[in-house]
Amino acid sequence: MNLEKPGDLTLDAGELIAGDVLKSIRKLPDEHFQLVVSSPPYNIGKSYERDRQTLKEYAAWQRKVCREVARVLKPGGSVCWQVGSHVRDGVVFPLDFMFYDLFSKLGLKLRNRIVWRFNFGLHADRRFSGRYETVLWFSKGDDYKFNLDPVRVPQLYPGKRHAASKPGKGGLPSGNPLGKNPADYWEFSAERDFRENPVWDFPNVKAKHPERTEHPCQFPIELVERCVLALTDPGDRVLDPFVGTGASVIAAIKHARQGTGIDRDARFLEIAQARLAQLNAGTLPMRELGKPVKRPDTSTKVAQVPEEWLATR
Ligand SMILES: C[S@@+](CC[C@H](N)C(=O)[O-])C[C@H]1O[C@@H](n2cnc3c(N)ncnc32)[C@H](O)[C@@H]1O
Repeated sequence: MNLEKPGDLTLDAGELIAGDVLKSIRKLPDEHFQLVVSSPPYNIGKSYERDRQTLKEYAAWQRKVCREVARVLKPGGSVCWQVGSHVRDGVVFPLDFMFYDLFSKLGLKLRNRIVWRFNFGLHADRRFSGRYETVLWFSKGDDYKFNLDPVRVPQLYPGKRHAASKPGKGGLPSGNPLGKNPADYWEFSAERDFRENPVWDFPNVKAKHPERTEHPCQFPIELVERCVLALTDPGDRVLDPFVGTGASVIAAIKHARQGTGIDRDARFLEIAQARLAQLNAGTLPMRELGKPVKRPDTSTKVAQVPEEWLATR
């Protein structure tokens, strides 16, 4: 397998392009993708960041990447750009400030700033440990796709009802039988799952997640799945210009979309390719989509599914 040339690896609906992001993305057609979802390097000295840049140099590079992302995006398409903070000498710079500015100046419109909370990471000793990052969701134009039903999550208390005195609705269930809007605060806790069902045996505490590979900063597939399901339809094209070990392409293919990923690191793409093969074979370890991270006391009445909804399930 020669991973030097872009476009040399195609697995059914998934394409992995080995190469520098700018060189590779410039070869992709205008207005081609419905969704671009990615997490760029944060310029914090990770193993996959070959040259540490000044913040100014990093911003200049990312400006060029963002321009290409906006170019390859279809009108009505979406960008989900997942970032944390650039930290130097203990001073924190939240990268979403910068990316908000870059994408807004390209005419994209911010629809949500999603907080993704996780329960692992570096322990700080002179500030609070960072346990969330953000996903900026922008649309290209106002006529954008947003499919809420496929990403609804179960209510903690589906048995809640409108007050008896409420005109027209008194006593009826107050929620939606399909579940609630997942809101702009996302949590995909592997830790709680493992405590209850410790079937995965991984040596490192940080590596408890079933999807963990040697990549230091992977997306949980579930995070991308939510973006794919809400912001695209089957058959649409999804691009991740910093695809790493392939979560975005996996999420796209899993839901009958087409996925393209770019990364300059051949080792990560080999892992991505192996994971795609496992997905095809039905053997890829994945956290179950939409699994609740909090469990209510099921003995309470409000935690029971209303009788009116049982027939529709
Ligand atoms: C934050 S990681 C993304 C990880 C990915 N979301 C995953 O689930 O594995 C950033 C990725 O960008 C890649 N990268 C860094 N600089 C690049 C460049 N100039 N061109 C292409 N890829 C690059 C790195 O190899 C790394 O895999």
